[in-house]
Amino acid sequence: MPQPRLSPLSNFGLTIVSVIVLLAAIFPTQPIRTRGAAAQRSDIERRINALLARMTLAEKLGQLQQLDGHADGRFKDEQPELVRKGLLGSTLNVRGVKNTNDLQRIAVEQSRLKIPMIFGFDVIHGYRTVFPIPLGETASWDPAAVKRAASIAAAESRAAGVHWTFAPMVDIARDARWGRIAEGSGEDPYLGSVMARARVQGFQGTDYSANDKVVACAKHWVAYGAAEAGRDYNTTDVSERTLREVYFPPFKAAVDAGVGTFMSAFNSLNGVPTSANPFTLTDILRGEWKFDGFVVSDYTSVEELIKHGVAADGAEAAQEALNAGVDMEMVSRLYNRHGAELLKQRRLTQQTIDEAVRRILRIKFRLGLFDKPYADEARERAVILSPANVAAAREIAARSIVLLKNEKHVLPLAKSVKSVALIGPLADSQKDMIGSWTGDGRAEDAITLLQGLKSKLPQAKINYAKGCEIGCDRAEGFEEAVRAARESDVVILAVGESAEMSGEAASRTSLDLPGRQLDLVRAVQATGKPTTVVLMNGRPLTINWIAENTPAILETWFAGTQAGNAIADVLFGDVNPGGKLPVTFPRAVGQIPLYYNHFNTGRPPDSNNKYTSKYTDVPWTPLFPFGYGLSYTQFKITNLQLSAPRIPANGKLTVSVDVENVGKRAGDEVVQLYIRDVVASVARPVKELKGFERVRLEPGMKRRVDFALNPEQLGFYNRKLRFVVEPGEIKVMVGPNSQDLIESTFQVVER
Ligand code: NOJ
Repeated sequence: MPQPRLSPLSNFGLTIVSVIVLLAAIFPTQPIRTRGAAAQRSDIERRINALLARMTLAEKLGQLQQLDGHADGRFKDEQPELVRKGLLGSTLNVRGVKNTNDLQRIAVEQSRLKIPMIFGFDVIHGYRTVFPIPLGETASWDPAAVKRAASIAAAESRAAGVHWTFAPMVDIARDARWGRIAEGSGEDPYLGSVMARARVQGFQGTDYSANDKVVACAKHWVAYGAAEAGRDYNTTDVSERTLREVYFPPFKAAVDAGVGTFMSAFNSLNGVPTSANPFTLTDILRGEWKFDGFVVSDYTSVEELIKHGVAADGAEAAQEALNAGVDMEMVSRLYNRHGAELLKQRRLTQQTIDEAVRRILRIKFRLGLFDKPYADEARERAVILSPANVAAAREIAARSIVLLKNEKHVLPLAKSVKSVALIGPLADSQKDMIGSWTGDGRAEDAITLLQGLKSKLPQAKINYAKGCEIGCDRAEGFEEAVRAARESDVVILAVGESAEMSGEAASRTSLDLPGRQLDLVRAVQATGKPTTVVLMNGRPLTINWIAENTPAILETWFAGTQAGNAIADVLFGDVNPGGKLPVTFPRAVGQIPLYYNHFNTGRPPDSNNKYTSKYTDVPWTPLFPFGYGLSYTQFKITNLQLSAPRIPANGKLTVSVDVENVGKRAGDEVVQLYIRDVVASVARPVKELKGFERVRLEPGMKRRVDFALNPEQLGFYNRKLRFVVEPGEIKVMVGPNSQDLIESTFQVVER
């Protein structure tokens, strides 16, 4: 829409009024945080109006620009001048109080309108104190622990001058070839939503202007995890039903938790790149969900519209992205380069630009940056890597570990053991412990399993042998490893992937242990010593031989700064493992996508009938199912009861079970609730997770666990894509994983 023209006089009058409004707005009589939420919001809008009235087009486009700093946290040479001129509103990777304050000082003291910068950074699973990779954290099935990790990450980030994390990544991933499965919460929309909420709450708290909080960013909007063939950045084609039922829910949970920003993704979705997709960016996000924060593009994803083939040049790319609803452009500079000309040609409206600026300023105000733009160096020193944060990292890492096998109670190992062979390329690799996306984390802070064992067992002899490199193709080190095993009472084998094998741009076509690691396992196992395999990896692995032949397996993911101590805590029984898989482990890469909440087909697999849905070479079942994990104690889940045999479509129901620790140690069980809508107007998944609780029980103790089922959990999208609860039978299943379940049913009836 073109701007109405004003006479010079009215222009002058407006300028005086806007200066007064601006002064009043920028220096309010009361600090913003002490007033009620509604008053605070309208105050912010008033202050934004005052600024918008004063901003030139170039300054507005400057707010829409984010540029990259150096990897070590410094800003780039051109940036101070851009900031001084009001042409740059945000950076990524600039961090550390010295760097951020230096640039901020220019924005706040030397630019015409004194609009503060917002400093973004990928704080994915910790800033300097690194927690387990998100997939690992999710394996804790403990939203309180996940929230706590995010909260510590936020405190360290803000102390280092960072205001904004590009997390949580809430992409559902059903394909373990995709390396970014490590960064999310796995395959399930319900678990993913619970974790999305926990992380947003942890990062943002109730008020992210606090000096220990940051604003969060739900990414990558959307369906990025559905990349064809698991190849990063690849095309996605997903029905609207699957978007609404599988890929959207964790994003919606983030919005409901108050997330301040979104990141548009790299992938094209049903033919329209997600960084130029008005359906997802505007109709869903703004229209249906009423999201009022801003959307940042992923790195150069605006410019990439040209390669996608939906924009002929930079001007068209800017036009499409901004009109679709991408407010801030990360790294490429097309809004800045072409904004004025696009406005002149009426390919963009002033209103669109103003709205994007408004959304960004809104978040800057909510962050309190106008009132408190600087970070404090003393605080940076006190908060980062504090002993309390490091202790939390150890605790949370131990909670994320999953016991996959424990034949003849090989684990826990006795602390009285005289000698331990620690073998494998991951046994003493600091850099791999912290996984991908390490924030400001340093390899030198990380505790390896070798270090963890040494401090756990000061008296024992640790016979360490690397055996081979992660990707090795030779067996030279095997002999030494076998000797170490022979000379020891027990063997621990640390095998898996390197940190760079998962994360961004780290897709694999094989899920096997890389290199000749499996041969190393076989050689060591042949010594007959009691062997525990400790897996370190960013995705499910196809470990069939190990699952069959080694007596004990611990899945530890990449457990972070305190990995070695946490794993030792679990190996020697100071912590009883209670984690569960947030993702299905397949037997073969050819089974992918393999996920528990699939549809039934008209010919469900039947081993007695050839013409049913299965393979001729590999069973159709997973190696380890979703939700699976053992403990050093045993639990029984019994006495499934429903509060009513039937409920109306808008009704609620309570599902209750008893969970009892029938073993000899205190431990945690994750009680999981699944449902199935047996007959509906559209096919429904064979089971869907709808509730869970991680319960701690002393030996011999029993507890009743209740789950509420309400219309939101019972409904689905019908043939017209309307969300409905239909009358009919609902099967209820409860158990310790998605396979071993006790069942009951109830009816939903018409009123
Ligand atoms: C690209 C990644 O896809 C995204 O997740 C990340 O936040 C940005 N780069 C910024 O580093």
